[in-house]
Amino acid sequence: MKKIRALQLMQYGGPDAARISLIEAPVAGAGQVVVRVHAAGVNGLDWKVREGYVRDAFPLALPTVLGIELAGVVEQVGPGVTRFTKGDRVMGPLGGLGAYAELAAVDAANLAPMPASMSFTDAAALPVAAVSAWQSLHFAGPVHAGQRILIHGAAGGLGGFAVQFARRAGAKVFTTALTRDFDYVLGLGADHAIDYQTGQFEAVVSNIDLVLDYVGADTLARSWQVLSANGAIVSTASPAILQSTPAGSRGLWFMSKPDAERLQEIAVDVTHGRLQSRVDAVVPFDDLPAAIERNRTRPQLGKTVVAFSL
Ligand SMILES: NC(=O)c1ccc[n+]([C@@H]2O[C@H](COP(=O)([O-])OP(=O)(O)OC[C@H]3O[C@@H](n4cnc5c(N)ncnc54)[C@H](OP(=O)(O)O)[C@@H]3O)[C@@H](O)[C@H]2O)c1
Repeated sequence: MKKIRALQLMQYGGPDAARISLIEAPVAGAGQVVVRVHAAGVNGLDWKVREGYVRDAFPLALPTVLGIELAGVVEQVGPGVTRFTKGDRVMGPLGGLGAYAELAAVDAANLAPMPASMSFTDAAALPVAAVSAWQSLHFAGPVHAGQRILIHGAAGGLGGFAVQFARRAGAKVFTTALTRDFDYVLGLGADHAIDYQTGQFEAVVSNIDLVLDYVGADTLARSWQVLSANGAIVSTASPAILQSTPAGSRGLWFMSKPDAERLQEIAVDVTHGRLQSRVDAVVPFDDLPAAIERNRTRPQLGKTVVAFSL
């Protein structure tokens, strides 16, 4: 049986809990393709899964291969798949785990064709952050011109895209970020930036129609007071919003879903310069366990992508 390299979570724990090892190559099941992975995006969810923070919501049979998004080339087409053929360049979320491997079996429905001019590393940065940003922005209802939207974590992976989507919809966009990142978020189209370390957003903004909470914890707890009468908070970071929403307020927990069509549109916008995507580090596969730990411990200036051929 053919063996491939993969980053496997052996047990829940710290940086040593995930190890590069040899596993059996996957076979494409019905509706699936096997992708030769050229690049995969590093996400905060990687270390949250590694440490067991989401083990109740997503029970796993260990060992399991980590990684939630990839870009690569179709190597094998499973029964019933007509959208792709061997050799197609594709990108997408797994809709589960398994992207950190030389070969990954993925539901074909999750995948979008890559624009011809896009690199694998640029493509691997899009499926989770960009699509989650778009979906979470529209999760509480239609977004329209003149709406007042506050985006927490605006300089992060989801935040950078959400600022651009909200601006495009004609909303007035308030953001929280570090002063270091003000030029970045204002350059993406934010109207206001508030330093989350030196300022108190609740002292500056009010009458907000939609809060996008990409941070959670205390940031979420302090956000109820800035909402307008019909305002809503959508959180991607704190499932506890469902229990902590005050009576009479609207708080929604968001879960991303694969959307190949939206991903394809977003990728085309990136290649035409209509949307900015920030990849700040491309690391080799051997550096992946350390890159996942850096995501946990250090401020991220942009997306980290692992490339299999470096
Ligand atoms: N539910 C879902 O389906 C789903 C999907 C995707 C992501 N997520 C979650 O959504 C969250 C955001 O994801 P991401 O990929 O955008 O993460 P990210 O790239 O790490 O971005 C988070 C951003 O928040 C900033 N930040 C930290 N503390 C802050 C505070 N108190 N106030 C304002 N900003 C603060 C960070 O700045 P520094 O760099 O300065 O620390 C960073 O720019 C994560 O919790 C992730 O796990 C959920």
